[in-house]
Order: sequence, then structure tokens, then C-alpha cells
Amino acid sequence: MNTLHRIDGRLYLEGVALDMLAERYGTPLYVYSRQALESAYQAYIDAFSATPHLICYAVKANSSLAILNLFARLGAGFDIVSGGELARVLAAGGDANKTVFSGVGKTADEMRAALDAGILCFNVESVSELHRLNRIAGEVGKVAPVSFRVNPDVDPKTHPYISTGLKENKFGVPIADAPALYRLAASLPNLKISGIDCHIGSQLTDLSPLADAADRVLALVDALAAEDIALHHIDLGGGVGIRYHDETPPDLAAYGRTLAARFAGRREKLLLEPGRSLVGNAGLLLTRVEYLKPGEDKNFAIVDAAMNDLMRPALYEAYHEIVAVDERPTPSKRYDIVGPICETGDFLGFARDLAIEEGDLLALLSAGAYGMSMASNYNSRPRAAEILIDRNEIHLIRERETQASLMAGERLASWP
Ligand code: LLP
Repeated sequence: MNTLHRIDGRLYLEGVALDMLAERYGTPLYVYSRQALESAYQAYIDAFSATPHLICYAVKANSSLAILNLFARLGAGFDIVSGGELARVLAAGGDANKTVFSGVGKTADEMRAALDAGILCFNVESVSELHRLNRIAGEVGKVAPVSFRVNPDVDPKTHPYISTGLKENKFGVPIADAPALYRLAASLPNLKISGIDCHIGSQLTDLSPLADAADRVLALVDALAAEDIALHHIDLGGGVGIRYHDETPPDLAAYGRTLAARFAGRREKLLLEPGRSLVGNAGLLLTRVEYLKPGEDKNFAIVDAAMNDLMRPALYEAYHEIVAVDERPTPSKRYDIVGPICETGDFLGFARDLAIEEGDLLALLSAGAYGMSMASNYNSRPRAAEILIDRNEIHLIRERETQASLMAGERLASWP
């Protein structure tokens, strides 16, 4: 993250010292850089400038209202997967007309809400969903714009939990079935064929699966055109990886050139659904060391953030770089960085060399994507506060939860 830097050993995000933020707002604390968010978005605009396109930010990566509002102001559209995400996009000033609705399990209520808002497109993932959407659209007197999410069956070569484009995954419809499905959609009265969609997986570090998927989708689009089924857009999903540790993420400009070559002379608009690559490296999680616990085989640093705050290490054995916020001249020691939750899986990093003492602050880097949005209240832990930094300005964009807010919807059983 280039907006992260040290002055006299103290870590700053843009113009704000992180130790000062921790004093003022407490820990664990998510902190984001406006400049990093905007430059990640601009990198997409620059890379795809040769192709008419719409960037639909995948809300699931970080659905905080201020983040959505920032992207809406930059002109982004959105990719949503629930009625809740739709409500957030609208509350943040996003445009339903630039929003695509993905997901395998859209409920009738979610379809109604999206039709009512004027959604750009439903990315349909099954025949049953197509029939339900046709029925609901008829009931509310609307015509629903549809795409099929096709499964191009390419191996994205990423973690199995986040690879979605293989035939054994629950997502999408087999690409070979798509022509028949488009014919079916064309025959249903309350649907309007609008596009095609695919998303093969997340944290991709190699461009070739993305290019392969594009080729397979474009071949299908041409076959559909030969049957007079014309599409307005081609949505190639998200998935571009970021650097957490030593990965080399795909070069966005090269991806842009690859697609520009394929889209030259075509009439369909390109849609992309990036999540992680827009927000991942724009955020970090600040945490304080509560205890140092030396052991025979290992030393533990027990911190006040846990798997409920940042679930990625526990769930995917994901690596997040961990750095001391204030440098010490003392020699470093090797620690496992763990949270206070009663699970062996509650770790944030293994075997990290750090010069730290109890009370010191650590920053878990690259935590802007799938951090806060996957946080839970396990062990009755209030979720963290969030801060958005803009040069020297500090914006509290989400208050820390309280015990009262956690218990607010609960009541005792009414037996005597
Ligand atoms: N579009 C669709 C249909 C998706 O399912 C996803 C992510 C995206 C776009 C955005 O993908 P991205 O550009 O962020 O790779 N929780 C996991 C990642 C799960 C991704 C799920 N789908 C993690 O923390 O790594």
C-alpha cells in the first residue's frame, strides 16, 4: 500500500499516524485510505479505457456505506448478491441502473426489490430461477433484464474455496446449456435478454484463465448472435488478485489490452465485477498486543483482534502481512499472532518476526477486502469501528458496536 509509510519509525496511513488513531478510537480498528481506493478504481478506468465498459464494484468485498458512496461518486456501478446489498447501494447513493444482481439463491422478495429499484440486470444461475423471475416480473408488471451466468469450466488456479468457474461448483449454468437457456428466456414474456456473465474465481494471479474464460464466453456470444439473440453487455466478473505476501498479481493494463483486442469492433459493452482489487490493499486492521506468552516451542502474541474481525486466515489459511506500528530498536522474536477466541483456528499469522512488547500496536495489512464484510460477533465480540482517511482528515465511517447494540433484538422467552 503506497499510502502507508513511516516517519521516524511511526506508521502513517496518508497523513495520519496510526498510533494516534488507536488511542482515539480504540482497537481493533479498520482503517482505509481514500487515496488508495481512488487510485485502485482509476487503475481500472485507465486499463479499460479502449473498451466501452462499466466497473461494477462487488459489494461483498467491503459493503460499508462510505466505501460504496466513494465508488458511486466515482461513477462505478455495483455487483450485489442480496437484498441487503441492494439496500446498501441505494442508501449510499448508488445507481440501481448500474447494478447487476448475482447469486444462486435470489428470493422472490429480493427480485421484487430489485425490479422496483430498476436493476440493470439479473445474473441468472438456474432454470428455476429464470421461471421464478419471469413470474415475479409478471406479477409486478415489469420486464426483467436477464443474463445467464455461464460456467466456462476453466481452472482459475486459486484456493478451492474461492474458485467458482469449474463444473463441480454450485455457480452458473454449464456453457454448453446456454443456447437452449437463452432460447427459453426469449420465449418467456416478462424477461428481456440483456447480457451474459461469468465469474471464475477470486484472488487470481494469472491472466490466462481470465483470457480463456473471455474467449469461451465470446464464442458463445457469437453463436447466440447467429441465432438472432443479441446481447447488450458481456460481464466477465471479478477475480483479479492482489499482493498479500509475495504474489505477483495480474497486470491490469495487460488484462485491459487482452480484452481490448477481443472487444475491438464488437457492439456489446464490457462489464467487470472487481471486489478485492479495488479495496483489498486500501485497508488495514489495527490491533493491540494484550499479552506476550513465551512457550517452549513457540511464542504467542495474543492480540485484541480475532477471527471474528478478520476471518480470512482461519478460513483459507490466508496470509496477511503483520507489521509493528511503532518500530523498536530491540531484536525481533518469532511469534504466532493469535486472538482471544476459544478456537485453535483463531490465528492471524504464524511465525512472524517482530520486535514488540505488551501494549504495542500491530497493523494487519491488505485487510480492506473480505475483512469487515465477513466479520461476526462470535464470542459476543462487538465488531470493530472503521475509519476512512483522506490526507490529514479522519472520518469515522462506522462506530464500534456496543454490548447494548448486540443485544438489542433479543428477548427472554415469555414463559412464567
Ligand atoms: N462477482 C461474483 C459473482 C463473485 O462471486 C465475486 C466474489 C466477485 C465478483 C468479486 O471477486 P473479487 O474481484 O473480489 O475476486 N471471501 C473470499 C473471497 C470470496 C469471493 C466470492 N466472490 C476471500 O476472502 O478471499
